[in-house]
Amino acid sequence: MLILGIESSCDETGVALYDDQLDLLAEDLFSQVALHAPYGGVVPELASRDHVRRLIPLIESVLAKAKRQLADIDLIAVTEGPGLSGALLVGTSVAAGLGLALGIPVVGVHHLEGHLLSPLLARPSPAFPFVALLVSGGHTQLMAVEEVGQYQLLGETVDDAAGEAFDKTASLLGLPYPGGPALSALAQTGDHKRFRFPRPMLHSPDLEFSFSGLKTAVLTEVRKHEVNAALDKKTRADLAASFQEAVVDVLVAKCLAALKKTHMSRLVVSGGVGANVRLRASLTSAVSKHGGEVFFPPLHLCTDNGAMIAFAAALKHARGQINLREKPTRFSVRPTWPLAIDR
Ligand code: KG4
Ligand code: ZN
Repeated sequence: MLILGIESSCDETGVALYDDQLDLLAEDLFSQVALHAPYGGVVPELASRDHVRRLIPLIESVLAKAKRQLADIDLIAVTEGPGLSGALLVGTSVAAGLGLALGIPVVGVHHLEGHLLSPLLARPSPAFPFVALLVSGGHTQLMAVEEVGQYQLLGETVDDAAGEAFDKTASLLGLPYPGGPALSALAQTGDHKRFRFPRPMLHSPDLEFSFSGLKTAVLTEVRKHEVNAALDKKTRADLAASFQEAVVDVLVAKCLAALKKTHMSRLVVSGGVGANVRLRASLTSAVSKHGGEVFFPPLHLCTDNGAMIAFAAALKHARGQINLREKPTRFSVRPTWPLAIDR
């Protein structure tokens, strides 16, 4: 079965072709980073308009790369939510139009389910069950994953998401949008022991997170240093490294607590912050020390992409969770859409 995956929930237009017998055949992505950079964040209307421009050429591009025709596609998988409604509408309307024209089914995929299952695209891939840490720009969640479609929320952030904390702190340090990658690159040259930032909720008995106080702590330190002069290069790098260390410490501690609570040994990490080198190294060493294993998606699939959407649909199809007889007669978006069943 050949599946076309379409992702357009935020600022990346992602398209991929996944063959359930042959693996990932082709993928392509257009990142809108340069478009939004002058505004310091994603401008929803600009995002939607750009998805309109990029989507069809990207579909043509993956078909050409995979040497396939439109008529070869058996199923279209598209991000239905959560995300920016205008941006989602571009993907779902193109998917529905194509599905109608080709007479093939279209399935709406949950963006976070795409992220969550993307580590299964790596080799070796984790077996079920596992604990999933989802760390993106909009979400920080720990889930117990029994099987595809069975997600139990163990804990989540009560305020900012981890990626959001990276982005806001990066902006305090004068780094360009998107802040996460820029901050983590700067942190590599800094001393993470110079500033001792709080580890919010580190010792709370639950699996909740809180990151908004951390950026305020960084701001307080920035102001102290800016009294006499602009922040020097070394101080900025040390602030970045110390902030990153605080976030990583909390994420690692909560992941270990989640593994203990669920009596599971496998941890699967996904979402944009999963690309963070320091987080990857710390989690790998901490979890292996406790006899467990950590799995990450291939680095380029940590952030938004079409491959994870096609792949999630393939896994659901293999388990009979997709009705292939249902042809598109309408399309919908779900800008807010909870994934997990409640605790
Ligand atoms: O999963 P994603 O691409 O989009 C959402 O669904 O949110 O995640 C984007 C987030 C942004 O906040 C970005 O700054 C962060 O992931 N990010 C990183 C790194 N790469 C991306 N944060 C820390 N370190 C990184 N290397
Ligand atoms: Zn995402």
